Amino acid sequence: MNILLLGKGGQVGWELQRSLAPLGHVIAHDFDTADFSQPDAVAALVRQVAPDVIVNAAAHTAVDKAESEPELARTINATTPGAIAREAAALGALLVHYSTDYVFDGSGQAPRDESAATAPLSVYGHTKLEGEQLIAASGCHHLIFRTSWVYAARGGNFAKTMLRLAAERDALKVIHDQIGAPTGADLLADISAHAIRAVRHSAAPESLCGLYHLVAGGETSWFDYARFVIEWARARQVPIRVAPEAIEPIPTSAYPTPAQRPLNSRLDTRKLQHAFGLHLPHWQQGVERMLTEHLHTP
Ligand SMILES: NC(=O)c1ccc[n+]([C@@H]2O[C@H](COP(=O)([O-])OP(=O)(O)OC[C@H]3O[C@@H](n4cnc5c(N)ncnc54)[C@H](OP(=O)(O)O)[C@@H]3O)[C@@H](O)[C@H]2O)c1
Repeated sequence: MNILLLGKGGQVGWELQRSLAPLGHVIAHDFDTADFSQPDAVAALVRQVAPDVIVNAAAHTAVDKAESEPELARTINATTPGAIAREAAALGALLVHYSTDYVFDGSGQAPRDESAATAPLSVYGHTKLEGEQLIAASGCHHLIFRTSWVYAARGGNFAKTMLRLAAERDALKVIHDQIGAPTGADLLADISAHAIRAVRHSAAPESLCGLYHLVAGGETSWFDYARFVIEWARARQVPIRVAPEAIEPIPTSAYPTPAQRPLNSRLDTRKLQHAFGLHLPHWQQGVERMLTEHLHTP
């Protein structure tokens, strides 16, 4: 099986290089050789490689920056994925793509399932939704995984930033009214590989294709996430300056950003768990693992 991986250098792309390797021959590209601001060039690459599976981890993920460059965000998040999907349909290839809870307005308190009405609040959310729609309209076999609050062990992330700030400062303010599930890029990559294998080995692949919500189990706020990380580190004798009572919860309204974020990022993942017979571990498990690796990296 030939697998074309696009966006190999991102958080999820990096982990996909690992998780896809046992499935077949992976041909991996990044910005330099598959620039998503050039839909025709990316489509030509897909035709030239003619893979069995295409996994697209490339995206315009700078949520605030997207507000000031909507056309570029649209090309990268919608037009090019749409062009890839049309090539996938022509080749009979399976396309795996990632989307976001930002397609929702985040009202209410309940987790949303795949049938919930979309209403993006930001350019990023609008362009990611359009990408989903173009892929669905292409008629290709596809898996679209909507996820949230993605972190990776490689590079910077929210937890590492909180640890650094907690060691430097006497007080911290963290948003308490956005609720979601921190989801590891490693988990996304592993689930993607399991799902690809299931589709490829299914007698009725169409029955498994479609849109899925994919996040770690449980839920938290950025404030409780920060407290979890800091107290975890304090308990392991990591030098922490900030006192527990000096971590202050603040509302989103106190931290204005160019792009509006949904308050309720809860996603209902039952469809995915049932379709593929998979279990989604609680977010703390992945975060603890990432922190342990971080502390033991010289
Ligand atoms: N991060 C999150 O919290 C989050 C939440 C929900 C959904 N998602 C979705 O999950 C997927 C993976 O996201 P991620 O967290 O892995 O994001 P990421 O780390 O920002 O990776 C995105 C990749 O796309 C590349 N890219 C940007 N512009 C490009 C272009 N013009 N042509 C080709 N590649 C380009 C980036 O390259 P450079 O690094 O060189 O710019 C990067 O390698 C995306 O579909 C994203 O929308 C992410």
